[in-house]
Amino acid sequence: MTDAAIYGRDFAGVYDRIFPSGSDIDQTVSRLADLHVGGGLSALEFGVGTGRIALPLAEHVGDVVGVDASPDMLAVLTAALQQRARPVTAVLADIRDYDDGRTYGLVYCVCGTLSMLMDPDDQRRVICNAARLLAPEAALVIETHNPAAVRAMHAGRPRDSFFMPYPGKDTGLLSYSTIDEANSFWHLAHIWFEPGDIRVLQEFSRFITPDDLDAHAERAGLHLTERYSDWDGSSFSGDEPMYISVFRAMSSDRAAAPAGLAGA
Ligand SMILES: C[S@@+](CC[C@H](N)C(=O)[O-])C[C@H]1O[C@@H](n2cnc3c(N)ncnc32)[C@H](O)[C@@H]1O
Repeated sequence: MTDAAIYGRDFAGVYDRIFPSGSDIDQTVSRLADLHVGGGLSALEFGVGTGRIALPLAEHVGDVVGVDASPDMLAVLTAALQQRARPVTAVLADIRDYDDGRTYGLVYCVCGTLSMLMDPDDQRRVICNAARLLAPEAALVIETHNPAAVRAMHAGRPRDSFFMPYPGKDTGLLSYSTIDEANSFWHLAHIWFEPGDIRVLQEFSRFITPDDLDAHAERAGLHLTERYSDWDGSSFSGDEPMYISVFRAMSSDRAAAPAGLAGA
């Protein structure tokens, strides 16, 4: 079983309750829709999961292709499409080498999916692959965890625990968090509980810093055009828990310029 398949087996049944729909999703969708180049091109989500973002985004931009390596997560998405049809195509595939011969008006990979790849070479492969799938002028949007903020939350302790209450009665997420600095790994063991259900969920991530991400993008022929700390467009100071990066293809003169002189 792949890491993604294990993740999906554990999370699929509760994912949409842990990440419920609401104003956060509306903001995400509205910004992604603004970043789409239009022109009748489809959007592509890397790590679509249950369709939390792809389903509402399709109502704004039309066709969305959603790739995921977890059959369980895609089963939740497919069930939602059977309940109410929307132009979302669920594809069981690996984002490291997904290729359908098309190009897209927007490629996005959000909610920390990139950091689920535990090998930096795989993270780089995903960026290179996404870059190949971009139509001219189209953006690649990546939202992932900010390692500096995770470390700050731990305040120097390699292990810590956090509790997040949810609005329902007796509902919440208790998280045991471990940072493995030697490998840049971050492990979360969650206990999700709600009336009638208590389950343990595991998440494994490999930190990716903004500098590393920008370097991967540059090697893929992309450059950073915007960076936010939130989908409302707030600027990123370096302290916020997540960061959202927008990359576009370098112009040919910029790509050919020696490092440090690009754009000069
Ligand atoms: C944190 S969830 C995010 C789901 C969705 N993007 C959202 O915002 O709700 C990460 C998803 O990425 C998928 N995933 C992780 N590694 C993958 C890979 N190598 N190829 C395809 N999907 C992958 C997982 O199965 C999971 O559904």
